[in-house]
Amino acid sequence: MITLGIESSCDDTAAAVWCSERGLLSSVVSSQDVHVSWGGVVPELASRAHHQTITDTVEHALERARITVKDLDRVAVTEGPGLMGSLLVGLSFAKGFSLSHNLPIVGVNHIDAHLYAAFIEHGPEFPFVGLIVSGGHTRLVRVDAPFVHTLLGETRDDAAGEAFDKTGKMLGLPYPAGPEMDRLAREGDPEFHAFPRSMIREGLEFSFSGLKTSLLYYLEEQKEEYVTKHRADICASVSAAITDVLSVKLERAMEQTGIRSVVMAGGVSANSMLRKRCRAMADRLQTALWIPSPEYCTDNGAMIAVAGAMMDSLERGRVQRGVGIRPYARMPR
Ligand code: KG4
Ligand code: ZN
Repeated sequence: MITLGIESSCDDTAAAVWCSERGLLSSVVSSQDVHVSWGGVVPELASRAHHQTITDTVEHALERARITVKDLDRVAVTEGPGLMGSLLVGLSFAKGFSLSHNLPIVGVNHIDAHLYAAFIEHGPEFPFVGLIVSGGHTRLVRVDAPFVHTLLGETRDDAAGEAFDKTGKMLGLPYPAGPEMDRLAREGDPEFHAFPRSMIREGLEFSFSGLKTSLLYYLEEQKEEYVTKHRADICASVSAAITDVLSVKLERAMEQTGIRSVVMAGGVSANSMLRKRCRAMADRLQTALWIPSPEYCTDNGAMIAVAGAMMDSLERGRVQRGVGIRPYARMPR
């Protein structure tokens, strides 16, 4: 069975071809640089950019997979959560594509799909504890079987990716600041300054909004030259604060559930400090830890194709099908 996955929930237009027997045949991601000068994603510009690139992105994905439309068995598309205008471009394209080529279509939840990116290269064992850390969400879930998810905890305010992006912006880094923070942090001292680790002592909920306030006050107290000189140290210290909270909560979720199998996914799971920390924890606790390769941590079409193929064949999850698939901006409760 060959699945075409289409993703357009935020600022990446992506398409991929997944074959149930042979694995991933192609994955094409077209990132929108139109937002950089605005310092964040501008929804209207995102929809227009998706519109301009979606046809080429899907064509490239088919070409790279060395298949034609006739070889496809289904289309999987992101239905939400995300920017309404952006979702509508991907959904409308996918609906038209499925109608004209007479292919079944399945709607996929973007946040759930991040976890299934782990199945592109590995085969995580169920049950597992999933940590999804992206630009808009930070969630700990217990996954007992494919698409049988129980929420253990989530953020009360900013997501981990938002914390990287907002603090990075304050340090003068271009949007999205996460990858650049990661790069600079590798050259800095994570113990240079102790930024707050909110709610670290108990529970499985997160709070990251205090971090940017704390950085704001810290920067106000320092001289500009000092900040410039120690930018890498500050990036490392901010990264350490975020990494500490995420890894401590992940370990707590494992203790509370007794589950010794973990999947970490979403854009922030590409972060080198977080990957290193969680790998060390998994080794210490003799836990199986699956983290997708960095290109499958950030938004991509492959995770949509894999999740769509699994949902469709198992008849599990909140499956929406056909031209009636409706987009949603927020994660359903
Ligand atoms: O999953 P994703 O690509 O899109 C959403 O679903 O939100 O996540 C994007 C987020 C952004 O906040 C970005 O700054 C962050 O992931 N990110 C990183 C890294 N790569 C991407 N954060 C820290 N370190 C990275 N290497
Ligand atoms: Zn995402």
